Amino acid sequence: AITKIKARQILDSKGIPTVEVDMYTNKGMFRAAAPVVTLTKCEPSPSRPGKESLQYERSELRDGDKGKYLGNSVSKAVRNINEKIAEALIGMDPTLQSQIDHTIMDLDKTESKAELGVNAMLAVSMAACKAGAAEKEVLLCKHIADLSGQSGLILPVPAITVISGGKHAGNNLAAQEIMILPVGANTFEEAMQVGSETYYHLKAIILEKYGSIGCNVGEDGGLAPNITDFREALDLVKEAINRAGCNGRIKMAMDVAATNFCIGNKYDMDFKSPDKSGQVFKTGEEMAEMYAQLCTDYPIVSIEDPFDRNDWLHTKAFTDLGLCQVVGDHLLSSDPKRLERAIDEASCNGLLLKINQVGTVTDAIEVAKQAKDGNWGVVISHRSGETEDSFIADLAVGLATGQIKAGAPCRGERVAKYNQQAVYAGENWRSPEIL
Ligand code: PGA
Ligand code: ZN
Repeated sequence: AITKIKARQILDSKGIPTVEVDMYTNKGMFRAAAPVVTLTKCEPSPSRPGKESLQYERSELRDGDKGKYLGNSVSKAVRNINEKIAEALIGMDPTLQSQIDHTIMDLDKTESKAELGVNAMLAVSMAACKAGAAEKEVLLCKHIADLSGQSGLILPVPAITVISGGKHAGNNLAAQEIMILPVGANTFEEAMQVGSETYYHLKAIILEKYGSIGCNVGEDGGLAPNITDFREALDLVKEAINRAGCNGRIKMAMDVAATNFCIGNKYDMDFKSPDKSGQVFKTGEEMAEMYAQLCTDYPIVSIEDPFDRNDWLHTKAFTDLGLCQVVGDHLLSSDPKRLERAIDEASCNGLLLKINQVGTVTDAIEVAKQAKDGNWGVVISHRSGETEDSFIADLAVGLATGQIKAGAPCRGERVAKYNQQAVYAGENWRSPEIL
């Protein structure tokens, strides 16, 4: 049974406060930390002012006391855990994840969960899941598989960020991430090896072309040379794949995060340059044409948020072309209602699942199932503001989503996920559940 819950404030990978929880049971102590919702309001960012990113996702609770971390401290969320949530959960069996999560959810009747805070709820839910796995003496991924009715544990293909742009880096590239997917690797271990090697080659190419300043990295660890043109970025990655000897074995993907540069109904491809001349505005149709051409010229297999989060029309029209997987992140915000609409209308065909947009492990499992039932792809995703907690690695394996996006093969909070995942069946090939 759960005997004690103790929360505290810690810092995420950007130095922004977040919530960490220690849950105690007879089996020991289980620790979890919530990633951070990207804070357009509080963080200095190269975006246009006034873009609200939290619109469709559940809300974190922050103190708003400007004297502490510029309003970002989370002592209220911590207190909610130590008092309200702890009181409700103590004595419960940690293996009963859905009961635990419903109990937490019921403590906050608001739709947005702003009263308790999604940061408070999620950290406790994750800690309970770890405690539940220990109670059953199985791996966390196995416990998650059981909870979701999934039989096999499948190590996903990592979508490894190699170039950062958008709001994640200080260069002029509008697209937020260029990723590589080692789909041709035989094992997860090999995927990480060829992915990392490609990253080293890319770094060398960038060093040659742009000098050492081009090798600075963005928030997810992707390299951030100061380029504007999508093609220039994709060419660099194509060349790196080539040098790594992985032509055909490594595919490419993008998270355009186009919501961040949609102004009115146009897209400002140069939104981060100091003089916003407006010369590079593209319409939705022009963006779709550009993507179609890119899918022809590069081995692109997946594009996330090619249009604004409310641009259902162009997202669907592009998806209809059938050129690649189209993933909804801002478009769906991991929200079951938006997902339902998108599945009904076939607006896209992949869900980016960020656990802190939904709030609990049970909700995350449900939304993943909803997407799978619609024959969609599911990408388990980190946030740009991460902790060292590797929970999402087990989530991807347990839910057998086949895809995870956890950043570059560098920076501790990113590789924590990949390292955790590098569980190769090896000699236990007949019974991988004991790994
Ligand atoms: P975010 O980025 O955590 O800053 O929202 C991740 C993404 O857009 O996929
Ligand atoms: Zn995204």
